[in-house]
Amino acid sequence: MHHFHYRGNELYCEDVPIQKIAAEVGTPLYLYSHATLKRHFLIFNEAFEGIDRLVCYSAKANTNLALLKLFANLGSGLDIVSGGELYRGLKAGFSPDRIVYSGVGKRVDEIDYALNTGILMFNVESLEELAVINQRAGLLAKKAPVAIRVNPDVDPGTHPYISTGLEKNKFGIDTKTAIEGYKVASRLENIDVVGIDCHIGSQITEAKPFEDALKSLERLITELKALGIKIKYLDMGGGLGITYDAESPPHPREYARAIIDSLQGVDLQLILEPGRVIVGNAGTLITRVLYRKAAPVKEFVITDAGMNDLMRPSLYKAFHAIQPVVKTAHAPIKADVVGPICESGDFLAVDREIPDVKQGDLLAVMSAGAYGFTMSSNYCSRLRVPEVMVADERFYVVRARQTYEDLVAGETIPSFLNS
Ligand code: LLP
Repeated sequence: MHHFHYRGNELYCEDVPIQKIAAEVGTPLYLYSHATLKRHFLIFNEAFEGIDRLVCYSAKANTNLALLKLFANLGSGLDIVSGGELYRGLKAGFSPDRIVYSGVGKRVDEIDYALNTGILMFNVESLEELAVINQRAGLLAKKAPVAIRVNPDVDPGTHPYISTGLEKNKFGIDTKTAIEGYKVASRLENIDVVGIDCHIGSQITEAKPFEDALKSLERLITELKALGIKIKYLDMGGGLGITYDAESPPHPREYARAIIDSLQGVDLQLILEPGRVIVGNAGTLITRVLYRKAAPVKEFVITDAGMNDLMRPSLYKAFHAIQPVVKTAHAPIKADVVGPICESGDFLAVDREIPDVKQGDLLAVMSAGAYGFTMSSNYCSRLRVPEVMVADERFYVVRARQTYEDLVAGETIPSFLNS
C-alpha cells in the first residue's frame, strides 16, 4: 500500500483526489505521499532494530527540502555527493555529525565547506583526493574524518550506468590499493581514519551482491585490525531496488537480515545510505494528455511531461507504470507515450498498453519519487515542474513551478552586444 489508490474510478494520493491537485496546481507536477515516505523510512530503519546503525538517507534520490526535513525529523542522517546537497541538508536541519560525503570528484571548495561544517566522514575515492583533504584540513586547522570507499569488484546485476562496484567503474579504490590507502591515511597528520565504505550500485534486486561486498569488506577489516588501524564505521552504501514493474527485490527486512547475518563478529557502527527504496514508490509524476496522433505504424499519446521532467525512461530505458487518474471503461490501447521535446528519445513509455485516453485526460507516471525531479532539467527552456506533498486530506506545494523569469535568472547580455 503506497497511499496511491483508487476510490471508485478516481486515483487518490492519501485522502486527496489527484484531479483536484492537478486542477489547482496545473500539470505536469510531481506528487509525494507523506505517509508513504514516512512509512518507508521507518520500515527501513526498524529493519535494523537492535543493531548499532545510522541510516543516512541518500539525498540525490530526492532533495526537496520538505522531504529532507521529514527525514531529519525522523532521525535520519544524510548521504551527500556535493556542496549543494550539504547546503540543502543543513538548511533542512540535519546535524552535521550525521552527514557522510561520497563522490569521486570533490572540489576544494566543497571539501572546505564539509570540513568547516564538521561532517561525520568523507568517503574517500582516490589517493589524490586523500592528499587534498589532508592538505585542506591542515590549512583549516581541522582533522578530517575519513573512510575509504572500497570497490569490492562485485556485480550488482543492474543497469550498467548505475553499477558502481565493478573494477571497471570509476568509483572507490580497489581492495589492494585500499590497504595502501589506509596505511598512508593513518600516517597523515590531519586525517582521522574512522571507517570503511562501499556502494556497489543501485536498483539491486537480490541480497547476494550485498553479501559478497560485505565479505570483501570484512577481509579488509581483518587486515586493518592486524595493522593496528582502528575504525568505527562500516558504511554499506545504498542500492536496494524497488518494484517498478515485475521486479521482486528483497524487503528491507530481508535485506537487513542478510547484512546482519554477514556482520557476525564485526564490531562497528553500521551506516546505510538508502535512497530509492525510501522515496521511489512514494512519488508520481502527473501529466496531462495534450494530443493523440496515429502514425502509420504507431499510436502516440503526447503528454505535457517529457524527458526533461523524467529522464529515466530515455536514459536507462527504465520502466515506469502509467495509470489513469480517472479510470474509464474503454478498452486499452497500445501506444508510445511521448513528451513535447524535439528528440525521438523523448518518451515515458514505448509500445505500452495504456488506457484509451483523450485530450485533456490525466495520467500518473508511477514510481517517480526517486531520481525524478532531481534529474530534471530546463532543456528546451521548459520550466521545472512543481512538487507537491500530500499529507492526509491536505496538499502542500513544496516547490513552486518555475516562471519564465526564473528561467533566465543569472543570465546577462554583455554590454558590447547591446551597442
Ligand atoms: N550512496 C551512494 C554513494 C550513491 O552513489 C547512491 C546512488 C546511493 C547511496 C543511493 O542509492 P539508492 O539506494 O538510491 O540505489 N539515477 C539513477 C540512479 C543513480 C544512483 C546513484 N547513486 C536512476 O535513476 O536509476
